[in-house]
Amino acid sequence: MEKKRILTGERPTGKMHLGHYIGTLKNRVKLQNEYESIYIVADLHMLTTKNKPEHIKASEQNTLDMILDQIAIGIDPGNVRFYLQSAIPEIHEVYTLLQNLVTVARLERIPSLKDMARDANIEMPFGLLGYPVLQTADIIAVKSHLVPVGKDNVAHVEVAREIARRFNQMYGELFPIPDFLQGENASLIGIYGKQKMSKSADNAIFLSDEPGVVRKKVMKMYTDENRIRADIPGKVEGNPVFIYHELFNPNKKEVDDLKARYLEGKVGDVEVKEKLAFAINTMLEPFLERRQKYSRSGIIEEILVEGTDFVRKEVQQTVYEMKKMMGFTGIWNRIRRRVEKHRKQLKKE
Ligand code: TRP
Repeated sequence: MEKKRILTGERPTGKMHLGHYIGTLKNRVKLQNEYESIYIVADLHMLTTKNKPEHIKASEQNTLDMILDQIAIGIDPGNVRFYLQSAIPEIHEVYTLLQNLVTVARLERIPSLKDMARDANIEMPFGLLGYPVLQTADIIAVKSHLVPVGKDNVAHVEVAREIARRFNQMYGELFPIPDFLQGENASLIGIYGKQKMSKSADNAIFLSDEPGVVRKKVMKMYTDENRIRADIPGKVEGNPVFIYHELFNPNKKEVDDLKARYLEGKVGDVEVKEKLAFAINTMLEPFLERRQKYSRSGIIEEILVEGTDFVRKEVQQTVYEMKKMMGFTGIWNRIRRRVEKHRKQLKKE
């Protein structure tokens, strides 16, 4: 039996961090053998909030860094495909053909789009309102069955489901209705607490960070603000250091012991952090080794070009099928044939 297909990915806005790992990358590794996996580098989506020349320029290195990040954490490039969205012009065609299958009011109700505009300090651009429709184009252009995403993208996949269903009803069965799969912990808190981990908030531990860098960042982490001395009982719940221990320290006995002592005021922040830094570095160590192996020049580019060439053919096929089902293909061919006939006749005369 043919494997079902996954499509997921992100915008090329920066190196990937522990938040990505927990939110989606771990899932990708788990699912890569069960599904045929395609990962998008969504540089057209990036334009919806970052369209300055410097953003576009930076996307080149970000694209390569992010693919390397994914391969480093265990994604097998022999098993999956990566593609660059802007290198497939037919995506725009799919996008355009879908635009009338959803209302403006429906898109205006999606909170993540307003959040993105607010975070970027901009008024909602037309393209940002259409963000989920472009995402739908990505998803259905390769007839994807499953879309693993973070929490804020679930609403976009819901739009994709609605649009796919509407296309099928209106023009005939063509698309599978894509399911979403939400990561375990959609947004990891940053090292300073409060805000979620992100490159722009400058509160991230990157998957490419060397052990010394990880240690330094962990030592700077916020803990229980009210605990000013090690012999005062502290709070574990909502404490970033313990949130990380839960997620990244596989030694559950150690974590339970640290928690118990923290609650009683019998352990200092330094010990808690040293053990956390060790746990994170132990997790990242094999990633750094794989990273080295794939850092040789040209490898990542080769992977991206191969994947993009493959996906482009698929998208071209989908465009052909869509236009045929919608009744477009015949119109143009008939008009063209009439012109050719007419031209031949003129030549004869
Ligand atoms: N919206 C995703 C993000 O937050 C990127 C993306 C674009 C995507 N097209 C997709 C994700 C298709 C899954 C499927 O960066």
